[in-house]
Amino acid sequence: MDRIKIIGGAKLNGTIPISGAKNAALPLLITALLTPDTLTLKNVPNLADVNMLMRILRNHGLDLTIDGKRAGQHTQLGETVHLTARDIVDTTAPYEMVSRMRASFWVLGPLLARCGQARVSLPGGCAIGTRPVDLHLQGLKALGAEIDIEGGDVVASAPGGLTGARVVFPKISVGATINVLLAAALAKGETVMENAAQEPEIGDIANCLVKMGAKIEGIGSSTLHIQGRSQLEGAVHRVLPDRIETGTYAMAVAATGGEVVLEGARRSLLDAACDVLIEAGVEITETDNGLRVSRQDAELQPVTIETQPFPGFPTDLQAQFMGLMAKANGTSVIRETIFENRFMHVQELVRLGADIQLHGDTATVKGVGELHGAQVMATDLRASVSLVIAGLVADGETMINRVYHLDRGFERLEEKLSRCGANIERISD
Ligand code: UD1
Repeated sequence: MDRIKIIGGAKLNGTIPISGAKNAALPLLITALLTPDTLTLKNVPNLADVNMLMRILRNHGLDLTIDGKRAGQHTQLGETVHLTARDIVDTTAPYEMVSRMRASFWVLGPLLARCGQARVSLPGGCAIGTRPVDLHLQGLKALGAEIDIEGGDVVASAPGGLTGARVVFPKISVGATINVLLAAALAKGETVMENAAQEPEIGDIANCLVKMGAKIEGIGSSTLHIQGRSQLEGAVHRVLPDRIETGTYAMAVAATGGEVVLEGARRSLLDAACDVLIEAGVEITETDNGLRVSRQDAELQPVTIETQPFPGFPTDLQAQFMGLMAKANGTSVIRETIFENRFMHVQELVRLGADIQLHGDTATVKGVGELHGAQVMATDLRASVSLVIAGLVADGETMINRVYHLDRGFERLEEKLSRCGANIERISD
């Protein structure tokens, strides 16, 4: 299994190209199930999760081609993928597939809307919390789906098709908003979703659906009005830049010091995190083609945060921010409000010398003068990259084991960082 070796201490200077957003690319790939025509997606990141979802979608009967590399093409630009679901041959998503990637559960809404039936395995537990799917099912039921749970599978049917309805979510969920949005695009009449998640990736899907012929109002807000269509058409859509990757590299530069341009990044996608970094002493300026992040002589100041749904500080940057605060000049308090158990990185950061006390949903991080390299274990996607950030500033060698978690969500991480001066390499055994 691959490992990543980091010798800490080098400042980061240079340019890092930001990839297409994983959390937009995954549901956009699933969106292709809604039309018999071809959906072309550009800027799709080459990630383990994306490749896994492509395999799952092929199982439903979707044809998929990826444009080959062309002479002179920038090797770090994302891929262009053409997806055609002319005939859906299988409306079942079995446990072996859904258990490997939770987002594959989101095929439920589109399969149901297009085929009138679907059988999708419950995703099961997960390292960062229980992550139920009750809100997904509540939304689809409101649209007229009949749903049973059989042998760990969600068995859903809508023989007469789905009908638009008012869906008021009692709690904000990204996945439930996506599932219902995709289903509503092929339902009869209007669906109004209230207390919908406002994450930019949802806006990206909605914009793609509009290109495919759906009528959607309120994009970017917490209330979405979706006018369903009996058939959607093909479209060409470019995946928006990854705000979590952007925030992660911004925090890496904040930690090491130096100056890096995050090419293609958009500040409006992560204002909350940028504001926090500025408070911590980092300079962030918008450039023609991205964001310039710099910390020269300013000391890193502690900042207290709590994770919130968009536009708040994202839970997907919580672990990285903790890695950064581990060496801040004082004590910061980090509260996780989205997932109850998203603190797997704490013990690993402590192995590197961090001083972190955990009480319920709150971590108190006392900045220490030095972190020291050690053997650590990647436990989930965002936790892994917090160890990279800490490893970049720890003295000596940090070895991160089980890096397949990183490959699920970060494209060419070692290459992007080493081009900016980091001493980081992948070791394949
Ligand atoms: C998505 C993101 C993930 C991010 C999370 C929150 C993808 C592929 N994943 O995950 O990176 O960390 O949003 O921004 O885009 N919940 C319920 N019932 C449900 C669904 C969710 O109680 O039916 C709870 C969850 O347990 C969690 C909270 O709602 O506590 C938010 O989860 P949700 O927004 O659904 O996260 P995901 O869509 O799984």
